[in-house]
Amino acid sequence: MVVMLIMGFKMRYLDLKRKICSVRMLAIQGIAEAGSGHPGASFSAAELMGVLYFRKMNHSPEKPDWDERDYFINSKGHSAPGFYATLAIAGYFPPSEMKTLRKLGSRLQGHPVRYTPYEIHQSVPGTEFSGGSEGIGLSVSIGIALANRLDGKKNRVYTLIGDGESNEGQIWEAAMAAAKFKLHNLVAILDRNRIQQDGFTEDIMPLDPTRDKWSAFNWNVIEIAGHNVEQIIDALNKASEAKDRPTIIIAKTVKGNGIKHMTNNPQWHGKAPPREHTPILLEELRSECLIAPSIIAGQQENYEEKIRSAERGGADIIHLDIMDGRFVPNSTFNSDIIKQLRHITTLPFDAHLMIENPLAVIQDYIDARCDIVTVHAETCSESDFGQITDRLLSNGISPGIALNPSTELPNWLFPHLRDVDVVLIMSVNPGFAGQKFIPEVLSKMRLVNQKLTEHGFLGYIEADGGIDATILQAVYEAGARIFVAGNAVYGSGDIHGAIIQLRYKVNVALERKLLEQANAIGIRRDWLKTRKHILIPLANELGIEEELHALK
Ligand code: DX5
Ligand code: ZN
Repeated sequence: MVVMLIMGFKMRYLDLKRKICSVRMLAIQGIAEAGSGHPGASFSAAELMGVLYFRKMNHSPEKPDWDERDYFINSKGHSAPGFYATLAIAGYFPPSEMKTLRKLGSRLQGHPVRYTPYEIHQSVPGTEFSGGSEGIGLSVSIGIALANRLDGKKNRVYTLIGDGESNEGQIWEAAMAAAKFKLHNLVAILDRNRIQQDGFTEDIMPLDPTRDKWSAFNWNVIEIAGHNVEQIIDALNKASEAKDRPTIIIAKTVKGNGIKHMTNNPQWHGKAPPREHTPILLEELRSECLIAPSIIAGQQENYEEKIRSAERGGADIIHLDIMDGRFVPNSTFNSDIIKQLRHITTLPFDAHLMIENPLAVIQDYIDARCDIVTVHAETCSESDFGQITDRLLSNGISPGIALNPSTELPNWLFPHLRDVDVVLIMSVNPGFAGQKFIPEVLSKMRLVNQKLTEHGFLGYIEADGGIDATILQAVYEAGARIFVAGNAVYGSGDIHGAIIQLRYKVNVALERKLLEQANAIGIRRDWLKTRKHILIPLANELGIEEELHALK
């Protein structure tokens, strides 16, 4: 029997995103099926638990008690549906078991039950701690971290705590003790979603200044955006460097993140959505979009400043156009420049190689620590492409393939599809930013999307060239989920405003699609009611102002 030991391997960025998306989908299906459960916390902690189980921790789904495993203590037990879904996707038990959530006789109860090999039917493999009454997990973690250290073991302990839970005095007793014992092998992660039970933490029991509190208790404190996987990875790596004290990662999260009407809404702390809403919610979750500014666009060549302003402006990834002056009639920069730019941001680098013979230089882009590397179908044979994807995958980098406007999907690509995370469709002839979108590409994109879906493609379609707010909805409806924007962002004079406008257009396209789905399953009115506060700002563009107004 092959025992899978997960040794903190470098899972590729887009695969990690996809897995965390599957966690949310599985959790909401379980909660809707059970008619009860906590979507709010399951979603606010999804990236935190996902990065730990899919990327950072040493653990083994086949051997839950593996002696060298890192420990994850989920002290905020009510995030159980999200936690179970993470364990299931990680391989601890079949995802189909999520349908038994909270059912009599199921081991997936409202709060996790610690796994013991003797009660395998009552306890959840991968669960280290029976979280029910909250405020206890950090104390338990101290015991485990101390014992590991006394035994000279290298295992690390990760503990997820809540900000409502931080009302518990025991949390602060534990905080003092952990610092006293200098437990550098202990990392607490605070799911700082600013909501507890039926209200906002700062109204009920103010926790701020949170950072100062933990610093005053002699903890190493790191503050991050808690849904940003790159920042989570970076913070966990930094926590591993702490030598003489425990670390707390204060993760600024959003309760219910992923489903817009549940977002930052106390109502959805412990409430299940109606079962009939499930297909629409799944559509929303799988429709996450990424905005990728292309830094060759615009006047000035200061790539560093462009990357910084894109990050400040709310971009998801940075699009890097590498041109060799041979495959395309322009040349830009190569991997040397990317190496110089890598330290500027934790945002993923999306390298678009418009060069001849990419196989010859692929190692340079691996060494430059790109997160996505896309080569053109016109520049490589099937065997080249196979070698390129193998090398990228073995280095935890997402492989992509790009098609010029007149290039069809090559038949040789289909056997490789499970290794491909991005199919980039050029909507201009490559070579320059600021060109006009070629409208004929829309029908091609629809066809490519259909063909890829038929072949079980799980990756992203990336649209590149002439994308702006006027064409974005049509490109979204044609199937794209990554949107490259050069001139629309760097030619706008207001980078933040431009990115907000692109996101607004994505939202309109998404809401239109979800409304169509609600129509199709006969729940339009109910959906409009549930979604009203999200739809009001978009009502004019969606043409539903009167209908929303008439809703009582
Ligand atoms: C063109 C590049 C695109 C381009 C995008 O060959 O691949 O990424 O820079 O810029 P806009 O959005 O201005 O077309
Ligand atoms: Zn490009």
